[in-house]
Amino acid sequence: MKKIQIAIDGPSGAGKSTMAKIVSKELGILYLDTGAMYRAVALKAIKSGIGTKDSAALAKMVEDIDIRIDYKDGQQKVYLDGEDVTEDIRTPDVTVGSSDVAVFPEVRKKMVDLQREIAKTNSVVMDGRDIGTHVLPNAEVKIFLTASAEDRAKRRYEELKEKGTLKQTFDEIKQEMEYRDKNDSNRIVSPLKKADDAILLDTSGLSIEESAKKILDIVRTRI
Ligand code: DC
Repeated sequence: MKKIQIAIDGPSGAGKSTMAKIVSKELGILYLDTGAMYRAVALKAIKSGIGTKDSAALAKMVEDIDIRIDYKDGQQKVYLDGEDVTEDIRTPDVTVGSSDVAVFPEVRKKMVDLQREIAKTNSVVMDGRDIGTHVLPNAEVKIFLTASAEDRAKRRYEELKEKGTLKQTFDEIKQEMEYRDKNDSNRIVSPLKKADDAILLDTSGLSIEESAKKILDIVRTRI
């Protein structure tokens, strides 16, 4: 059977994972959060005392890194060298570090190979920064999701507060997002960029339900 591929890209806090989860549930296909993989690389670097900007050490580190994605009760679990790190990859240090390690081609190649391998055997909705431009260039649906910087920071703040994992002030979250947006958009390899054939969706001021309706309408007309 033909595998469906749906790519959702955009800056941090645009609501990509929330929307991707809704699409995955609605269509009964796999959701792959590719950011979690870059986070796992950053976590390993931090734990090993390797700088998240040390390209040579990172290139060596990822040669034999073991990142695995599994699903438990419909939730994505991330395993780093056999250990469940699903929660550990959400700290502020790992968040900033993930954007730093994602600049390096050796790191990206390893992650992209893994992502494409998963898409080979599954219908997927993937969210990230380079899915429509690089990882799945032939995806049936490509959406570039964005929202104002203020809205994105507010959403991320509320999300962390709700989960009980809020460790930063609103301003710290906003600054971290600005840093990552700039870093992710200006890197040389596969920067955050709307694919020419992606549909731009600005969800500023929209509720989750309103955004989901727009996305599902787009998806339904294309698959
Ligand atoms: O989606 P996220 O915020 O969990 O991603 C963490 C970092 O990983 C992000 O700042 C940039 C990087 N990333 C990437 O370069 N390419 C992807 N496809 C996904 C994430």
